[in-house]
Amino acid sequence: MEIKVVDNVKTIESDILVVNLFENEKTSVELANTYAVEQDNFKGKFGEIYLLPTYGKDVFKKVLVIGFGKREEFSPDKLREAAAKAIKKAMQMEAKKVAFSLDGVDFDYSEQLTIGAFIADYTFDKYKSEKKDNKVQELYVQANADLVKKAEKIASAMTFARNLANEPAQFATPEELALIASDLGLDTKIYSKDECEKMGMGAFLAVAQGSSREPKFIHMKYQVDNPKKKIALIGKGITFDSGGLDIKPPSSMLTMKDDMSAAACVIGVMSIIRELHPQVEVHGIIAACENMPGCSAYKPGDILTAKNGKTIEVDNTDAEGRLTLADALCYACELGVDEVIDLATLTGACMVALGTQASGIMGNDETLVKNLINTAERSGERFWQLPLWEEYFDSLKSDIADMKNTGSRWGGASTAGVFLQQFVKDVKWAHIDIAGTAFLEKPQKEFIKGATGAGVRTLLNYILEQ
Ligand code: BES
Ligand code: MN
Ligand code: ZN
Repeated sequence: MEIKVVDNVKTIESDILVVNLFENEKTSVELANTYAVEQDNFKGKFGEIYLLPTYGKDVFKKVLVIGFGKREEFSPDKLREAAAKAIKKAMQMEAKKVAFSLDGVDFDYSEQLTIGAFIADYTFDKYKSEKKDNKVQELYVQANADLVKKAEKIASAMTFARNLANEPAQFATPEELALIASDLGLDTKIYSKDECEKMGMGAFLAVAQGSSREPKFIHMKYQVDNPKKKIALIGKGITFDSGGLDIKPPSSMLTMKDDMSAAACVIGVMSIIRELHPQVEVHGIIAACENMPGCSAYKPGDILTAKNGKTIEVDNTDAEGRLTLADALCYACELGVDEVIDLATLTGACMVALGTQASGIMGNDETLVKNLINTAERSGERFWQLPLWEEYFDSLKSDIADMKNTGSRWGGASTAGVFLQQFVKDVKWAHIDIAGTAFLEKPQKEFIKGATGAGVRTLLNYILEQ
């Protein structure tokens, strides 16, 4: 979809002109007022739509009235949702040229208008032999051109991340992620298994052991002269999580190609960063491997040594993400960055706590956590803080090693958090658990089922705000 900023969308020859109606008010199109508002008593409750043809009497073929609800309750989030709804309707009707007229809406909302339109105009049909030709090709808006341009880039990073996370695990392998990361025009280093061994990444490599696919440790760098800040982003990159020897039941394994959604998010962010050229140094780090129960798989009871020398008794091979992240965190802490932010589809417990509505966030620096929560809110995502009290470490105590990789069932998201903290040194750190938000099992608001690109919008805006 191409988005075009124009002075007057009503003069554009379009298949559909979308107009907004605030509850109990009028639209800016006479025809819509006559038929929808007056004759049919269409009220404009939030999200309601009303379609009417113009029978060739106008340059637009149809008018789609969309309810914006009460004016005083309207917000950028609502605009994003409404825009997505309008685009979905247009797709259903196979409209190719859509014009969006927004009356009485702040131009500052242009970012969410654009994001909503692009989230909706997404399909993952590359493996369908018959593809529907239902995408909108041109979208005309009256909006703030700079915000639209920025949002378009953010949206393309989201699409990149969604495509990657939706890709089946047979194709989105560690090697494939490494190839994609190497192809972004950034300074990228891929470490082989042997090189990881030399670096002492015993926790990451243990997880990789059970698979016939080679692990890859990926480090992408975006550098600028005199950066205002240096940030490392780490994304969990388990390209498939079978659970390992502690194998998952079928219903839990079904969606586990999504266990690299955080890696996809980081690659998505890095894919667009040069075009946004922030004055910030950004490192994208992914320890990519599969968690499989092959004949050389790591086992419950094994003792692993992470890059920082700490030993871990394997309590459950399905708590693999934290093991790969442990070595990635050690690596990131050695880069001399100001902040480390990791994202992971880490715990079912986080999903139990927050559902699919919010990602969990915790960290060792309140300001960093609060800033990320605020940026998420402005970006149209939700991060919710979970505690990281040191008592959560009690259940991770091991009799024979420095810690175990799992503890009590209760408070699983926070337990995972304090586990990760053992590998963080002298740096501001935040951990974002996207287990519930990264991959939807049914459509939700502007998203179809599948990958959502969770984290992309917030991270990019956070980087741009520095
Ligand atoms: N990848 C899963 C977490 C997950 C679950 C992500 C559901 C998305 C949806 C992770 O590796 C895992 O298996 N976690 C275990 C940890 C447990 C063994 C302590 C879990 O949450 O059940
Ligand atoms: Mn697992
Ligand atoms: Zn996992």
